[in-house]
Amino acid sequence: MQVTVEIFRYDPDTDKSRFDTFVKEVDPKDRVLDVMMAIKDEDDGTIAFRKSCAHGVCGSDAMEINGLNRLACQVLVQDLKSKRIRIQPIRGMKVLRDLVVDMEPFFAGLESVKPFLIPKEPAPAAERYQSIADRAIFDDTTKCIMCGSCTTSCPSFWTNGAYVGPAAFVKAHRFIFDSRDGGNEFRLGILDDKDGLWRCHSIFNCTDACPREIHITKAIGDLKRYTVVHR
Ligand code: F3S
Repeated sequence: MQVTVEIFRYDPDTDKSRFDTFVKEVDPKDRVLDVMMAIKDEDDGTIAFRKSCAHGVCGSDAMEINGLNRLACQVLVQDLKSKRIRIQPIRGMKVLRDLVVDMEPFFAGLESVKPFLIPKEPAPAAERYQSIADRAIFDDTTKCIMCGSCTTSCPSFWTNGAYVGPAAFVKAHRFIFDSRDGGNEFRLGILDDKDGLWRCHSIFNCTDACPREIHITKAIGDLKRYTVVHR
């Protein structure tokens, strides 16, 4: 099948942007990343975009595809149900070149909630025991690959870059509900701040955008209830 691919271009040297259009013969089962690689190999080697594992694990190739945040390596051309593919950078971040954005503010948001285990008790002689039931409470939020699709699909983040954002909430959830963790007082201070949880208006874009199908809006709801009870 033939598709028309429109790719956002931005040149930091001239500070000018445009869309470039390519017409390509593709297999309907090609992934959008395959199409982009073919364009880069055969039509224009200067197009800049991130990719790494190409199997939905590293989270490098998050981009806006026909209006929705997706991993380019996970979307088949046939699933778009359109012969026109419009590719843009994820929103709310500074564009460095073409589809490459500055991820530093995103990672700063993640770091703000201390996304690591802060042990509640000194290390025991053997492992820190956790029951299967306790582990299950935060199983869903362990799946995050930090691609940024959720935070950059959130209108609250588009209007306020200081908003901690859904990706950081997912990380906070993973540790706040971990029975072995003792860092909640610090994390709740971040979540209960003016740029924290309460700027989430349950818009659900984050849940729709997550390539790991994490129930992000539900996790944010868990955190809101926890914060009300424990702050
Ligand atoms: Fe944004 Fe997701 Fe809340 S899209 S407003 S963080 S439910």
